[in-house]
Amino acid sequence: MTTSARTAGTATSESTPATGVPWWTSAVVYQVYPRSFADSDGDGIGDLGGIRSKLDYLAELGVDAVWLSPVYPSPQHDNGYDISDYQDIEPVFGSLAEFDLLLAEAHERGIKIVMDLVVNHTSDEHAWFQESKSSLTNPKRDWYWWRKPEANGSLPNGWGSAFSGPAWTLDPTTDEYYLHLFARQQPDLNWENAEVRQAIYSMMNWWLDRGVDGFRMDVINYIAKQAELIDGPAPATGGGSPMGPQIHDFLQEMHREVFDGRTGQHLTVGEMPGVSTDDALLFTDPARREVDMIFQFEHVGLDQGEHKFDVLPRNLPALKQSLSRWQERLAATGWNSLYLNNHDQPRLVSRFGNDTSLRYESATLWALVLHLHRGTPYIYQGEEIGMTNVHFDSIDDYRDLESLNHYREAVEEFDLDPGTVLAGVQTMGRDNARTPMQWDASAQAGFTTGTPWLAVNPNSDRVNVAADRASERSVFRFYQQLIALRHESAVVALGDFTLLEPDHEVLYAFTRRRGDETLLVVANASDDPLTDPLPVDVSAAHLILANYPAATDAAAPPTHTLRPWEARLYRL
Ligand code: GLC
Repeated sequence: MTTSARTAGTATSESTPATGVPWWTSAVVYQVYPRSFADSDGDGIGDLGGIRSKLDYLAELGVDAVWLSPVYPSPQHDNGYDISDYQDIEPVFGSLAEFDLLLAEAHERGIKIVMDLVVNHTSDEHAWFQESKSSLTNPKRDWYWWRKPEANGSLPNGWGSAFSGPAWTLDPTTDEYYLHLFARQQPDLNWENAEVRQAIYSMMNWWLDRGVDGFRMDVINYIAKQAELIDGPAPATGGGSPMGPQIHDFLQEMHREVFDGRTGQHLTVGEMPGVSTDDALLFTDPARREVDMIFQFEHVGLDQGEHKFDVLPRNLPALKQSLSRWQERLAATGWNSLYLNNHDQPRLVSRFGNDTSLRYESATLWALVLHLHRGTPYIYQGEEIGMTNVHFDSIDDYRDLESLNHYREAVEEFDLDPGTVLAGVQTMGRDNARTPMQWDASAQAGFTTGTPWLAVNPNSDRVNVAADRASERSVFRFYQQLIALRHESAVVALGDFTLLEPDHEVLYAFTRRRGDETLLVVANASDDPLTDPLPVDVSAAHLILANYPAATDAAAPPTHTLRPWEARLYRL
């Protein structure tokens, strides 16, 4: 038994959960990417049956809620983030009847189900868009952003799509452009139109009435556009945020129309690229009734240059200081969400740790660091067993349209070196997170009996749930302990956060304090031992959790050296 396993049981006896605060302050959310989680029918694509078969696994892990990436009918250009019907289930994933079973079975285990809400845009195959594009006078024409070509025939403005190329596509039916901040198969809805808003609220109510427990709101800050940029005299350049000031009105209206008066315990988390801490304060101040928390992007942009595939070296002081600033700014009002990876980001152990020789140590270090911040932690499927980036040798093995569009544009239009472009995709590409979940060492990692839609990571013979759980050094068990800690300890959930040694290149250290209780995290984010003195005297402290066994040499002070990627949690 490791130190961590021995000590975790005693970790929380002195702490009690706080009452009178929202349930999600002491909750942990697990993100399922349905396509890649578990396939129950052998077609190579994960499905609801697969998720149902793993509910006991999620219950054992101890998570409070599952956020399901989109399971609605979709042509799947962006793996379900292009929705063609908001009120049904994609047949590849199952049916509404099976969704109801999943919901009931999750609830039986005390697990909430949070749906992905993708309402900045629909699929171009959605009936609303089909109607809208059919004629200039169609009643739904104004449901999307249509613009005539400029007098000189050029695009309405200079906005670029997040997935390469311009954000405008000319539709030949009426010879007008429509706006799509993402792929051309993802036309943006016009939230200025009150009918659009009512249609969305009614759909949200339909899901909540069915029993779902909330929404993760896809790029929700983009629903409000800076209209003056769209129609301004000079074309705006690409970049910058399209977010318009009406966003707060829209979210407050949504709250009134959907959540007010409901007695259930819901969760709303808005994905919001490009927002500041000042914005976040407004979005998450409970008195303003907008959303419970947001996903911000500052910390995952620090290792990216001009664009996301332009990879910069890791900068630990910058990462610590960024997260710490968000902790401080949302300390008195508002709330943070905590994540280091998801279906759009590379695997955390590959990005921030050492995913080869010190995989267990660095995966658990980041788990401890993140879960000891104040906020609601999100675990992305496979993170809990230390899954790594995949590194396919050929662009042909990748499936994500963002990576494929970027590669094509960079190599064919900008004539960049294919090897360099591929290296960017290998490091930052979203398929790193989307390779199938590795359940066991069998062929296709126990994910499917068929041919998976995206190849399994070749390390699945070593990195998989069965192997991890059988190991002395189990990442899964470490996450279980962290989740239990958050459930039981008010200082973990709510304590004040203070970063120590902000400029230290490899030491990640901070305290959490509530009442007379203080916790200390010290972590060595490097491949080398760290012999600097710790920032706080821990000689009388109680070690709660660590990712190495306690030093056995009784003569040496146990705190003298932090081993490579060693992380410790103390109660002072
Ligand atoms: C969000 C999603 C991402 C998707 C995009 C467009 O960023 O997380 O996966 O491609 O929005 O919907």
